[in-house]
Amino acid sequence: MLNIAVLVSGGGTNLQALLDAQARGGIHGGKIACVISSRPDAYALTRAQNAGVPTEIAVRRSFPDADAYEDALLGLFDRYRIDLIVLAGFMTIIGARIIRRYENKIINIHPSLIPSFCGAGFYGLHVHEAALARGVKVTGATVHFVNEVCDGGPIILQKPVLVEDGDTPETLQRRVMEQAEWELLPKAVSLFCEGRLSVDGSRVRIL
Ligand code: GAR
Repeated sequence: MLNIAVLVSGGGTNLQALLDAQARGGIHGGKIACVISSRPDAYALTRAQNAGVPTEIAVRRSFPDADAYEDALLGLFDRYRIDLIVLAGFMTIIGARIIRRYENKIINIHPSLIPSFCGAGFYGLHVHEAALARGVKVTGATVHFVNEVCDGGPIILQKPVLVEDGDTPETLQRRVMEQAEWELLPKAVSLFCEGRLSVDGSRVRIL
């Protein structure tokens, strides 16, 4: 059984999708061992506690520098014997040492079809604002492995979602979550835990 750490910063609806999948036996070969929040007031922490999952808080500004923060996160990963890190709306930068040590073992969910509307500054509602401003007719979500390039790691799963007339960033965000994110993230995590993801350069093969 692989131990999964889910890193969160906000409402935690993607965490909820993972907890629900786990409750119905949909995460094969893995279990959520802890939830780590970068914000003490994140509602995601309540979701974890309701599901009986241990929680930890790691706030970047409580540490003198990025190195010390990275040490703290690595310490938590060691303590819970973490095999897979899932970034589920985690809004703090993950350091290079973590990325190296967990190469192809960190999964992120991004609310667009990468390589559109991704990279520095594209997070949360901003992604949907940019998609609407550009006038795209189709957007979606991407689950990918994390490497040193922001939103640039190998893509695991993607799903398109239609933009509708009259969409606001909020309505589009909700549709992308409902129709894509909450389905893709548990699926990708389960595939990883079953050992069915094989990375070949920038391509991921599903075995
Ligand atoms: C989700 O839409 C996720 O894709 C996005 O933040 C939201 C978190 O919502 N992540 C990013 O933008 C990462 N670049 P949640 O806390 O309800 O899961």
